[in-house]
Order: sequence, then C-alpha cells, then structure tokens
Amino acid sequence: MYNWDDPINDALSKPDIVPEKKVHEAQNIESISNDHMADSNVDHMPEPKPTGVGSTGMENIEHGAKRIQVDDKAIINCRADLNQLVPFKYKWAWQKYLDGSANHWMPEEIPMHDDIKCWNDPQALRPEEREMVERNLGFFSTADSLVANNLVLAVYKHITNPECRQYLLRQAFEEAIHTHAYQYCVQSLGLDEARIFNMYRELPAVATKAEWALPFTQSLGDPTFKTGTHKDNQRLLRDLIAFYVVFEGIFFYVGFTQILSLGRRNKLTGVSQQFQYILRDESMHMNFGIDVINQIKNENPTLWTEEFQQEMINLITKGVELETQYGRDTMPKPMLGMDAQKFEEYIKFIANRRFESIGLPHQYPGATNPFEWMSEMMDLNKEKNFFETRVTEYKTGGQLKF
Ligand SMILES: [Fe+2]
Ligand SMILES: [Fe+2]
Repeated sequence: MYNWDDPINDALSKPDIVPEKKVHEAQNIESISNDHMADSNVDHMPEPKPTGVGSTGMENIEHGAKRIQVDDKAIINCRADLNQLVPFKYKWAWQKYLDGSANHWMPEEIPMHDDIKCWNDPQALRPEEREMVERNLGFFSTADSLVANNLVLAVYKHITNPECRQYLLRQAFEEAIHTHAYQYCVQSLGLDEARIFNMYRELPAVATKAEWALPFTQSLGDPTFKTGTHKDNQRLLRDLIAFYVVFEGIFFYVGFTQILSLGRRNKLTGVSQQFQYILRDESMHMNFGIDVINQIKNENPTLWTEEFQQEMINLITKGVELETQYGRDTMPKPMLGMDAQKFEEYIKFIANRRFESIGLPHQYPGATNPFEWMSEMMDLNKEKNFFETRVTEYKTGGQLKF
C-alpha cells in the first residue's frame, strides 16, 4: 500500500530494488542494433544475435533465442527482448499497474448538477474564487496533455523494461482521463473553452511552469537521443526527475489544494471530486517515477555523482520557486483560509519529502505542513473507503480469481 506522503519508505524498502550486478555495458550499441535491424528478410534468417542495447521491442524476432531470465532485465539499456512481460523483475511496477487498474474511474461518473447550480448562482462564489477555478482548469488542462505527450513520445522508449512500460501505458491512459475530466468540468460549467484551453499561452502564471518543463521532454523526444553513455544516462535521469518529482510532484500541489479547499466548503463539490480522483492517480504516478529513478540509480550508481546531485538539488529548488510564484499569482489575497505564505511553506514541506525520496538532503529544514487535511485527501491507505461509494465492477473485473 502506498502513501503519497511517504514514498521513500515504499521506494527504498522494496526487496526487489537492489543494486543490479549485471549493469549492461553500453559499448557496441550501434553495431549490434543496426546490424540486426538491417536483416529483415525471413528467408535469410540471421544467426541469433543479442538485441541492441536500448532496444525498442520492435526488433526482428530472434528465432531459437534462449529464454529470458530475470537477470537479463534492466531498467535502461536492456539487451533482453522487451516483448516478454514475465518473468517479473520489478514487482513494484506490476503492482502499481494492478493498483491503478483497480482504481479505474471516468469523469462522467461524478455528478455535476450541484456545480452547475453553484456556478450559475451569482451569490454562491466570490469573483476571486471563480478566477481561481478558471486558472487552475487552464493550467491543468494543458499540463496533463504535456505529461501524456512526454510519456508516450519521450520517456516510454527509453525505459527498457516491460513491466515498467505496462505501468507507463496505464499512466498514459490516466493522463487522458485527467484531460477528459478538465474538459468535462469546463463543459459542465459552461466556461469559454477556447479561453481556458489557451490560458497557458496567455497567462504568465500558467505558462511559466509548462515552459520550464518543455525543454526536458524535448530533450528525450529528440529522435537522435539514446541512452547508453554516462552523459546520456544522466540526461534521462535528470529529465525523469524534472517530470516525476517536480512537474507531477510539486507543480500540481498549489492548484489541487486550492480546488479541494472549495470542495471542503461545499462549493463546486463535483469539480473538487474530479480533482481528488486525479490527485490520487498523480500520487501513484509520482511514486512510480520515484521507484524508477531509484532503480536507475541502483543499477547505475556511477551516475549519482556529487556534481549531479547538486544539479538535481538546484533543479528541484527552481521548481519550488516557480510553484511558490504560482501560489502568489493565483492567490494575490487570502481566501478560503489560505494565503500565498502558507503555500510557500506547504511547497517547501512537500519538496523536503521529494528530496528525501530520491536520497537528497532536505533543503528547507523545519518546513511544516499548513494543510494537513491534504494528507487525508491523498492518503492512498484510504483508497478503499474512497472508492467504495462508486462503481465496483471495475475493481472486481480487475481482481478476478481463477
Ligand atoms: Fe494527470
Ligand atoms: Fe500524472
């Protein structure tokens, strides 16, 4: 069972996250993979050859190749056939796939009637509350598309393990559901779709975070980029930290807190519930990312140099600055028991946990959590209670016993 607030215990205490002895050498990547790909004529069957380091899973079939062993698997730069899910090596990845599937939900399942009434009642919401809702829908609606594009077009091909890819596929679909949920909120409330979806290009507070993240995904999506060298492996690790730890692990939290605080006050409860479901998915995404990051570190310990660690501290610290600024921009004056200063404290508190989860020291000693109720909202130990009020056939479907 995972706790959003304490991923480190999950990530680091797993018996199957152990230093990998068989770290594959990165040499001969080009010669092996090009040679292998070139011979596509089945009439002239090539001699069985190892697949290339950093293989995609789309290489020619090796007839008669020996069966895959657990030790053949590696999280990056793997030589083993990527089309064979079992035997499992990273059971945490498979378990997260099962957990995510068991908690499947769709936006239309959440009633929005009260929200429509609330939004159309001039007395029900203050102007600054309406603005806050619109800005967050503007940020998240495009941010989730960006995350999905990053997963599918950039991250996926560099993670060379089938059980991790299985979770990435699940995550990609969940990101599609999230974008759907924001669209469903916009449609239900009758908001100006063009204005909301274009907000990330028009409002600096919304644009800045997406702009910060883009170079990281562009880097991995570069068709000439492949892992295999020390420098390129570090580049992948850096970009995973940027996306999973900063983008999904820090950049979402001011917005989630703002929207969920409305729901706690019985305002826009449907929108709030959509965000709560999304937040639970996101905490799982982040925990998966942290497991992947720690696994890459364990299998490739030379990547985690002092210099690289300092670079990661600077990267995460920059994320904290941007999210703090987002808090100031979206909350120029206090509302709903929150203000920009509390957000700054909250983000620092969260960031300390993120640092710890990937083995870096706290950068904000003594930071406390001013929104303890958020832990309740996200505590995945409560997911059974949370989901028991809604459709259960997905859960049973995902847990059939034979
Ligand atoms: Fe998402
Ligand atoms: Fe996500």
